[in-house]
Amino acid sequence: PKFLSKPDQLGVVACKPGVDAAPSALIESGLLSQLRNELGYKIHHDDTIHSYKELMPASDPDVRGMKNPLAVSAVTKKLSEQVYEQAKEGRCVLTLGGDHSIAIGTVSGTAKAIRERLGREMAVIWVDAHADINTPETSDSGNIHGMPVAFLTGLAKETREDVFGWLKDEHMLSLKKLVYIGLRDVDRGEKQILRENGVRAFSMHDIDRFGIGRVMEMALGHIGNDTPIHLSFDVDALDPMVAPSTGTPVRGGLTLREGDYIAECVHETGSLIAMDLVEVNPTLEPGINDIGAHETVRAGCSLVRCALGESLL
Ligand code: ARG
Ligand code: MN
Ligand code: MN
Ligand code: MN
Repeated sequence: PKFLSKPDQLGVVACKPGVDAAPSALIESGLLSQLRNELGYKIHHDDTIHSYKELMPASDPDVRGMKNPLAVSAVTKKLSEQVYEQAKEGRCVLTLGGDHSIAIGTVSGTAKAIRERLGREMAVIWVDAHADINTPETSDSGNIHGMPVAFLTGLAKETREDVFGWLKDEHMLSLKKLVYIGLRDVDRGEKQILRENGVRAFSMHDIDRFGIGRVMEMALGHIGNDTPIHLSFDVDALDPMVAPSTGTPVRGGLTLREGDYIAECVHETGSLIAMDLVEVNPTLEPGINDIGAHETVRAGCSLVRCALGESLL
């Protein structure tokens, strides 16, 4: 690995700021022991699944239409510091979420560490059915999980320190270093933002047309082979047939192999410095038994193992 001083060491942060049981389900299904025993990582984890209850405000009224702004800001700020602490040691950082708002914390933490440690800007590969680039003003839902990219790139700004005003230049991601894969449910305002800023994005249409092999060549070509990569993987990029237990499923998604292939290609670059796995929500399984939840957790574990070096042969 080109950008890690401790390539055999993995920092792990597990958090569930919402109601979901994902990090415990992923860990109980053996993910960390597989990374340790089969892939040979030394794992730095505090054996805690953070719910950050102590950070929850007594009252949290909407700000510019955002729901739970104080809570999400406080949790992501804390997470940013935790991820930064791991990344500045030169370890790869794996964060098990949580919904995608947590990327405000993870991406800002690695961006800052990489700037300090290597004097470089990193790239983000955002694998998702959604673009998550609404500003508070373009969002119809007010859900902050639909806005993380806008805050990380400075498209959305807020001066209030307790509402993401803690995000400084050193935490920011350049829109030129952002690549999307798997998009198929992008809001109107988001489409305009993507178009106006010339953001590189590969939708499911592009994957149908070119195949996932060519799409990964183009995506990695855009980033260039001399740039650290943070992979932010929303499990809802996968088709709901294989990953149903997620908050905002959208039909017509990636197959299991396409998902794993994306992760494998990122591993092969040798440039991976952090990965988020988000929006796994085993409690949302709509069926009469928990097969869907189990399958979603299994798919998530596979994505992580592939990104961290598991190969088929
Ligand atoms: N675009 C929609 C919104 O802004 C959906 C976002 C879904 N994001 C997610 N992380 N699940 O609310
Ligand atoms: Mn969510
Ligand atoms: Mn997302
Ligand atoms: Mn999504």
